Amino acid sequence: MSAAISPTRSIETLAPFRRSSEHPAAVPTKISGNIPDWLRGEVIRTCPAVFETNGWRAQHWFDGLGMIYAFRIGDSVVDFRSRLLDSEVARDAWHGKANLGSFGTPTVRPLLQRIFEPVARISDNTNVNIVKMGQELVAMTEGDRQNIIDEETLAAVRFVDYEKGALGGTIMSAHPHFDFERGKVMNVATGFGVSGVVSIYEHSPAARQRDIIGSWRTKRVPYIHTFGVTPKHAILVAHPFAVSPVKMLWSSKGYIDHFDWQPEQGTRLVVIDRSNGQIREHLTDPFFVFHTVNAFERADATVLDLLAYPNENIMASLRTDRMVAELPDLRPSLIRLVMRPGVERVTVEKLSDVGFEFPSTNYKRVNGQAYRFAYGASDGYQAGGAYDSAIVKADLETGKSTAFGDGDHIFGEPLFVSRPGGDAEDDGVLLTVGAAQNAETSILAVIDAKSMALIASAEVQSSIPLGFHGSFVRKEG
Ligand SMILES: [Fe+2]
Repeated sequence: MSAAISPTRSIETLAPFRRSSEHPAAVPTKISGNIPDWLRGEVIRTCPAVFETNGWRAQHWFDGLGMIYAFRIGDSVVDFRSRLLDSEVARDAWHGKANLGSFGTPTVRPLLQRIFEPVARISDNTNVNIVKMGQELVAMTEGDRQNIIDEETLAAVRFVDYEKGALGGTIMSAHPHFDFERGKVMNVATGFGVSGVVSIYEHSPAARQRDIIGSWRTKRVPYIHTFGVTPKHAILVAHPFAVSPVKMLWSSKGYIDHFDWQPEQGTRLVVIDRSNGQIREHLTDPFFVFHTVNAFERADATVLDLLAYPNENIMASLRTDRMVAELPDLRPSLIRLVMRPGVERVTVEKLSDVGFEFPSTNYKRVNGQAYRFAYGASDGYQAGGAYDSAIVKADLETGKSTAFGDGDHIFGEPLFVSRPGGDAEDDGVLLTVGAAQNAETSILAVIDAKSMALIASAEVQSSIPLGFHGSFVRKEG
């Protein structure tokens, strides 16, 4: 694929963002290879899928109207379903309206509404992540509302019913953590007032009462997409892409378009003690981050691994007009930040030569612990000018990486699924969805996480747009 594409072309005609029809009723896939006997369950994901309607256009990748889709892996059969997300934002967009605050697309609101409601209500277009929280399957974006999804129909049925309390109206991230030992879901919530309050909260998976673990107050509020967690600490990355909340009053700009890059501020790491909410801060050079990978404690330090971009330019490169001209380079660097109590400066170490996004680990086993393997999707232009994709495995002990790619599909997040009874950290498979560049088809690829060889795939006659995150819900019994 050439980098020089007409800017008038619609992103919906461009792999890996092609749009195809919904499949609310299950359709079979064409299986190649052998799916392991122990791998039974469902890959459920959400993605931006509709970028244009008659009268509305998403100006940022993150504003594409959501679609929920699922591959159900059974005995000798894998079937596929998909359904566009019915949200308030989508209903508006299909009528050419943009009343709610979006990520990077301006709102269009009557003057009186802007006067009496100085900040637009936040989007319910939950197109970023989908996780099981207790018995509820929850689709998330960065907002104050999360959609509960019916596991059979994939339809949005209602919003998660959190108690309001001190966190009412705050923006929750779409990247909650799970502390399996303590039986808690943790997340980060940002509240905007004269200044900003960034809080870490937790609740039991089935409970909807959120308890605040600690709060960090700041005049300039960083864009926070993820956070790190160890058994002792939660870690916020306050990179210098931030906003003074007052800028958002009476504005019609997209949420992220209020933020600016002030590299002279450096990047601040905010380490919150989970037992008492106490905070210590560290400082390092400026970088931009979407995704943390893992965090853990050493005897003398707290360690956070993340995927760092040199600056905030990546955010602008995800605008739809830019992506039509040139697909984004999703290959940030995996770095390790070592934070010692009493030492302000952070020690930074590069962990891998291969850049990638959409990180994953053997989460249930290693999150919050020292670990060896990180996985991700490495999507970008190759030396010859073609846009290509590889699923990579970074060995953090050797610094070496291995990869799988087939030269056609553009893959997204690889989900690690451990083999029951497996001993090794990498004993399992990676499940990743790839959209073909040269056909209107997609595959669910099953990759052996040890060897990084493709062991099976399930192909569907549908272009599944590249999206962000999802879950594997294992079939019990
Ligand atoms: Fe994300």
